[in-house]
Amino acid sequence: MPRYDIISIFPDYFAALDISLVGKARAAGLVDIAVHDLRDHAEGVHKSVDDTPYGGGAGMVMSPEPWGRGIDQLSQSSQLHDLVVLTPAGKKFNQKMAQELSECEHLIFACGRYEGIDHRVTQFYMAQSNFRVHEVSIGDYVLNGGEVATLVMLEAIIRLIPGVLGNPDSLVEESHTLIVDGESIVEYPSYTKPASWRDLSVPEVLLSGNHGAIKAYREAEAVKRTKSRE
Ligand code: ADE
Repeated sequence: MPRYDIISIFPDYFAALDISLVGKARAAGLVDIAVHDLRDHAEGVHKSVDDTPYGGGAGMVMSPEPWGRGIDQLSQSSQLHDLVVLTPAGKKFNQKMAQELSECEHLIFACGRYEGIDHRVTQFYMAQSNFRVHEVSIGDYVLNGGEVATLVMLEAIIRLIPGVLGNPDSLVEESHTLIVDGESIVEYPSYTKPASWRDLSVPEVLLSGNHGAIKAYREAEAVKRTKSRE
C-alpha cells in the first residue's frame, strides 16, 4: 500500500484526512498516511525552525537542519522516495502529475511556511540516488504555507488509487483526463431529476435515449466549456 508522510509545523491541518473518501481509503487500508511535526526535529529551548534570510529581505526562511533530520528519519528504507516540496515557485500541479504521483509507493510532503525552506534541502535530496524531488505549486497565488496545497494534492492523488472510488468508471470521462491538442478538456454539464426546475428544462437530447446523439452533444458541450474558460 502506498505510504504518504507529511511534515509540517501545523499537523492539525491534516485532521481533514480522516473525513470522506480519503478517510475511508485509510480505514480500508488502501493508503497509509502519517503526519509529523517539524518541531520534533528542532533543537534548543525555543525549538526554532526559521531564521532571517541571507542577503536580506522581508520574512523568515525555514532552517535546513530540522528538515534534514525529519526527512532522513522517514527515508531509512532502501526504496525510492518521492519528496514533494510545496512552493508557489514549483511546477504547476495538474491531473497528469496527480496520476504520476498516484503510482509512487512513498511520498514525503514538505510543507514550508514563511518565505519557504532553505534551498539546500531541495538540492541535497535531488543529489541522492534514492530520492526524486518535486517542487510543486497548486496554482499562481500565494498561500500561507504548503499545508492546504498538500491536502489538495492528496485528495487528487488518492482518488486515483485503485479501489478508492466505489465506481472506477467515474474516472473515465471526468474533467482534465481527456487531452486534445495538448489541452485538457473539462467535463460537460450534468443534470438530474426533475426534468424541469424553475422554468429551466434539461436539454431534450439527454431524454431522447439516443446514445450516439447524447455522446455527440456532450462532446460539443465539453469543448464549448473548455474554450469558455480561456
Ligand atoms: N505555498 C505557498 N503558496 C503555495 C502554492 N500556491 N502552492 C504550493 N505551495 C504553496
